[in-house]
Amino acid sequence: MSHATPLPVSPLPVSIVARGPLRGDVTLPGDKSISHRALMFASLAVGRSRIEGLLEGEDVLATAAAMRAMGATIERDSDGVWQVDGVGVGGLLQPVQALDMGNSGTSTRLLMGLVASHPITATFIGDASLSSRPMGRVIEPLTQMGADITASPGGRLPLMLRGLTPAVPVEYTLPVASAQVKSAVLLAGLNTPGITRVIEPVPTRDHSERMLAGFGAELTVEEGPDGRIISIRGEAELQPQDIQVPGDPSSAAFWLVAGSIVPGSHITIRNACMNPTRTGLLQVLRMMGADITDTSARTVGGEPVADLVVRHAPLTAIEVPADIAPSMIDEYPILFVAAACATGRTVARGAHELRVKESDRIATMAAALTAIGVSVTEHDDGLSIDGSGGARLPGGAQVASKLDHRIAMSMAVAGLVARAPICIDDANPVATSYPAFFETLDALVRATD
Ligand code: S3P
Repeated sequence: MSHATPLPVSPLPVSIVARGPLRGDVTLPGDKSISHRALMFASLAVGRSRIEGLLEGEDVLATAAAMRAMGATIERDSDGVWQVDGVGVGGLLQPVQALDMGNSGTSTRLLMGLVASHPITATFIGDASLSSRPMGRVIEPLTQMGADITASPGGRLPLMLRGLTPAVPVEYTLPVASAQVKSAVLLAGLNTPGITRVIEPVPTRDHSERMLAGFGAELTVEEGPDGRIISIRGEAELQPQDIQVPGDPSSAAFWLVAGSIVPGSHITIRNACMNPTRTGLLQVLRMMGADITDTSARTVGGEPVADLVVRHAPLTAIEVPADIAPSMIDEYPILFVAAACATGRTVARGAHELRVKESDRIATMAAALTAIGVSVTEHDDGLSIDGSGGARLPGGAQVASKLDHRIAMSMAVAGLVARAPICIDDANPVATSYPAFFETLDALVRATD
């Protein structure tokens, strides 16, 4: 399979040692999951949508480039508002080149769903991290719907997907708790005659359902004996929308933990999405004794939103309930840093999925925390961590971010309480979800310098 080779980017080492306290206000970047979906659904509407607060990180820009390659017109105004002229459901065009998904699993899996029911063929490529991630979980239901998919060994990228029109509606029970798989099937269902149904035994983030309904798709959600039943009527006509993207709770997570562990900190985080399928870390930090209040609850873009105020507080180890995993799945790396500073042994298990994220987040965090002097036990499905009881962490080591943005940012936060510098070998991946992360960190520390 021929494809373009991305230009090599030199590693960006970053070194961080104890600083602080952190004080001030944080304006969050737009939510990554919602930003991807806003671009995709606007690209399928008939007419012009406007998107405010879009996350301008590399992952979302990969989605924008792919939608352009399939016919949508997507432009950014000088005031940061994005205008999207959609092609209509069924109207995606044959891309002339491979779709480069970069580091983004969400772009890949959701777009595979979209292409699956269009009469086009697309090749999906990505970076080394994305090319090692399993795509079998979407290949299986999309093949049932009629797509013809040739993947690299192990069901990985690069892969070529030939869509089928009309595709075959399915009723699909998710074998893994994955919003990406759920969304891939629902998006394939958008251009499929009849009703496509996904049964979700364990609830996962529901941004696709909320936003598709907002765009006028006929979508219902019911509680059934085996979980939530999400049904979408295909051959939908989506109406253009004005969308405001709320702030990303997965980005807020770094400040919630930094504010909790760095003595004297007091941070206000504005406009955080408080969708209950995303607030697991907030609940867990509160169980550990964190001092976090939420104020000004409101609705933005069909999603609950609030401002969060975090003050330093001593944390106590807990056993993290396994059933909370889907609502904090991206927050485990930063939770592990909080655990490293708590009093006692934190046990976090039942999170197998961490093995197949941008890196193997169990192994990568075990190696990074061990390197900086934290006592960690690795399990197949999580970590047990002996906390410092609030004392500074030893630090004094280089850690590998493994092309994983959340590892780089988590270890940067660990650096804020390290006696000797922590050097992150490559902080480039931070640009996938939080381009202003280090700038914001500097501003919060400078406020008290
Ligand atoms: C996402 C779903 C989650 C999450 C990812 C974004 C989404 O992945 O980890 O960062 O936008 O649907 P899974 O569906 O694999 O759990």
